[in-house]
Amino acid sequence: MARTATLTYGDKKIELPVIEGSEGELGIDISQLRDKTGLITLDPGFGNTGSCASAITFIDGEKGILRYRGIPIEQLAEKSRFIETAWLLIFGRLPKKNEMTRFSDRLTDNAHLHESFRHHFEGFPVDAPPMAIMSAMLNTLACFHTEFLELEGDEAFEEATARLISKVRTIAAYSYRKTSGLPLVYPDPKLKYVANFLHMMFSEPYKQYICPPEIERALNMVLLLHADHEQNCSTSTVRIVGSSKANLFASVAAGNSALWGPLHGGANVAVLEMLEKIRRGGISAENYVKLAKDKNSGVRLMGFGHRVYKHFDPRAKILKSASDQVLALHGAKDPLVDIARRLEDLALNDSYFVDRKLYPNVDFYSGIIMKAIGIPVNMFTVMFAIGRMPGWIAQWKEQHNEHESRIARPRQVYTGPTLTDYIPIEQRT
Ligand code: ACO
Repeated sequence: MARTATLTYGDKKIELPVIEGSEGELGIDISQLRDKTGLITLDPGFGNTGSCASAITFIDGEKGILRYRGIPIEQLAEKSRFIETAWLLIFGRLPKKNEMTRFSDRLTDNAHLHESFRHHFEGFPVDAPPMAIMSAMLNTLACFHTEFLELEGDEAFEEATARLISKVRTIAAYSYRKTSGLPLVYPDPKLKYVANFLHMMFSEPYKQYICPPEIERALNMVLLLHADHEQNCSTSTVRIVGSSKANLFASVAAGNSALWGPLHGGANVAVLEMLEKIRRGGISAENYVKLAKDKNSGVRLMGFGHRVYKHFDPRAKILKSASDQVLALHGAKDPLVDIARRLEDLALNDSYFVDRKLYPNVDFYSGIIMKAIGIPVNMFTVMFAIGRMPGWIAQWKEQHNEHESRIARPRQVYTGPTLTDYIPIEQRT
């Protein structure tokens, strides 16, 4: 039997359909609310508002569950790789062998940037924020791939997807080289996705960077764990921009701008800044934890707690063991890593954090791993963008393929002046 919710307002009473998702989540369908009652809903921050129905990612924050297309994140982290998971997210199922080979070949073929495109990097000042370069360059891609401004059919879609996922890593590496005053390094077709990225980041014309396997694996995992997280701020931005039928490049460039904010993709930077502040200030980890517990201090333990995950962040659990492995080999002498480990140990055994379910989140460990790999802090959010690209594309595609999708256009409750006459300038007091 179809379920409904009843809304009573004044002398009006209406039945609203209740929609049930495949994991039993319930949502009241209010799409007829304004037509039938003249009312709208108000939900700043959208904490109670579902903006779409989606078959891509499932999260249960209470139970610490994250699944991509139904597959638990733990299984993907153990058995899959970033690129295979990207295909899964975008095309809805795990690729067959020939599909994986074709997609990998497409990524290799598209790793380079057009020479004219490369010259765009010359125009940026040396201290340009890499995230600003990334947003600009994702938009610039639209100029070089005009054949993909209108996308129809899986073949065109896969090619456009491969271009974006491949080139986002080249753009990221070039933004680092440019802002470090270093020569740009061409991609190497013999290398796989992550190793090729680190080659473009760290090789010199006179010295090839050799990527240790445990680093390749850890970074692969960081990217895979960031690949989608349903309707977060940047993904919702991609969908809103895409709802106007803006092309894929413009939509993901907008998502990248949303990611730049410190409340979203910038949190991993905040973790490293906190560790650096503790080191420079000579504060003990014990005293910093005390400060974080004092509500008057204005200090929070960055990298702890999560809006959605109230038990634990499943991605953090996976990254913790990856970070232990990387640090055992590459980060042992870093004083920031020592501070991070001490903070983690103190917080996990402190009733303030335990009672409030404040566990280390994904940003805590991803920041530590990237630091150990040698990725500079101002590149952390760019790394997040590389990881999130498949999610943005998958969500854009899902919306693009909906026959009845409408342009996103929220309403508001107006609180400004009521009707007011224009006053000529000489009469204004
Ligand atoms: N350090 C100290 N105390 C904290 C922290 C923290 N990191 N996080 C929450 N608390 C305390 C709050 O003061 C509050 O205490 P009270 O109940 O005594 O008043 C309680 O825990 C609940 O906090 P809320 O702010 O209500 O939790 P909310 O779910 O709104 O916030 C958030 C989640 C924003 C992630 C928060 O935990 C935080 O600020 N963490 C640090 C920043 C961070 O790591 N952000 C990255 C999030 S992960 C991601 O975006 C991928």
